[in-house]
Amino acid sequence: MGDEFQTTKDTQTGKKKKLYIESYGCQMNFSDSEIVASVMQNGGYDTTSNPEEADVIFLNTCAIRDNAEQKVRNRLQHLNHLKKKNTDLTIGVLGCMAERLKTKLFEEEKMVDIVAGPDTYRTLPALLTEVEDGRKAVNVFLSREETYENITPVRLNSNGVSAFISISRGCDNMCTFCVVPFTRGRERSRSPYSIVDEAQDLFQKGYREVTLLGQNVDSYLWSENPEVISLLGEKKAIKQGADISKVEIVNFAQLLERVAQVSPLLRVRFSTSHPKDMTDEVLQVMKKYDNICKYIHLPVQSGSTRILEMMNRGYTQEWYEQRIAAIRNILGDTCGISTDIITGFCSETEEDHQATLNLMRKTAYDFAYMFYYSERPNTPAAKKYADDIDLETKKRRLQEVIDLQNELSLKRNQLDVGKTFEVLVEGFSKRSEDFLMGRNSANKVVIFPKKQFKKGDYVSVKIHDCSAATLFGETF
Ligand code: 5AD
Ligand code: SF4
Repeated sequence: MGDEFQTTKDTQTGKKKKLYIESYGCQMNFSDSEIVASVMQNGGYDTTSNPEEADVIFLNTCAIRDNAEQKVRNRLQHLNHLKKKNTDLTIGVLGCMAERLKTKLFEEEKMVDIVAGPDTYRTLPALLTEVEDGRKAVNVFLSREETYENITPVRLNSNGVSAFISISRGCDNMCTFCVVPFTRGRERSRSPYSIVDEAQDLFQKGYREVTLLGQNVDSYLWSENPEVISLLGEKKAIKQGADISKVEIVNFAQLLERVAQVSPLLRVRFSTSHPKDMTDEVLQVMKKYDNICKYIHLPVQSGSTRILEMMNRGYTQEWYEQRIAAIRNILGDTCGISTDIITGFCSETEEDHQATLNLMRKTAYDFAYMFYYSERPNTPAAKKYADDIDLETKKRRLQEVIDLQNELSLKRNQLDVGKTFEVLVEGFSKRSEDFLMGRNSANKVVIFPKKQFKKGDYVSVKIHDCSAATLFGETF
């Protein structure tokens, strides 16, 4: 999950008003923007890719690191110029930053008319009505139930081949560095029936890949009777003698299997896995279905058990390594593995940092998202620990982590030279329309000559060259 950024594309369904939406942060936010576009379509808005012609501009924001918030503030300053030109323009801040700052945002950024947290998107048309009546409008209610399960997203972020399906919302983990439990609330799982329906619908529309999204997919747990889940969560069900044998309960492995059965031609991916919750049952389901991609994003954060403990990650370095060994045992060496790493967390010593570098070497990640620690107000770490590693050291350690990862990515890609992979075509290569771009099962980007192939095709590609980021191949 990088600090990515995405704007809307145009949808034309004959609505009078125009919405322009920009998304920051993680895939979950991009997926949420598609729900927002759907709610707004029902409220009389088409989306536009041009902010100049918009009646409403929404920034769907991220709060995970300070620089993610700074980016949004700069963007708001810029959009203020548009507001001066068009006094009817409404500007809304959605998502994690809205949830974190609440009405403070109105005081700090005068151009903002709407502040709406991640669980309030159904109320956006009502919030717009309040603004039309001349008021500022806010809703930052966090729900224990909202999963937007009956809302069909307007696919804004899609190439027509792959799409996101959100399977759960919120997070109960309480990693000490993380603002997400405060901005996205308690974890709740969406009905497997509505997830499978959405996957089927996408397949029928020509999509060939879905990515199941959740802050922690491995803790997905759904029952028709939500009380059962809360009892299970608190491990009370058995003690209380509740008869749960008659109630349908679906865990992540079972959900994955149901989605994989939609069609062998529909690839299934998922993100994000959590080392403390990733089960062998999930790995076995991945092995059983060719169309479940052999790729796991398994954030480690640090290779030092002492730091992991302070982060409240719920595992040790040894446990993490044992999970990697389970992936290698069950899925083999070609399974792609990526991670997230934070350098310079509170009290991190050179020895802790070396432990991270060692673990990276041992695991030989294909890819990593790497950050230096950014203290977030009111998180457990901000309350309990001093942010005592100076910026220069945080950045130096981050650079060492990045340099090592570049070496590892290249080495891992070199192992693929000479192999043949099935690649799902996503579109043209960035550099030339004579070449196509797609991914193999392990999530590696593969570039190859276009010939007669097109978007959505599965193509067998033999790899003849690579860089740290890309595989280059030939078809026969
Ligand atoms: N500072 C730096 N990185 C963070 N992440 C989460 N919170 C912070 C923070 N306060 C990183 C973690 C997480 C990813 C989404 O962002 O690595 O896995
Ligand atoms: Fe996504 Fe977390 Fe950023 Fe919210 S704070 S947008 S959940 S990465």
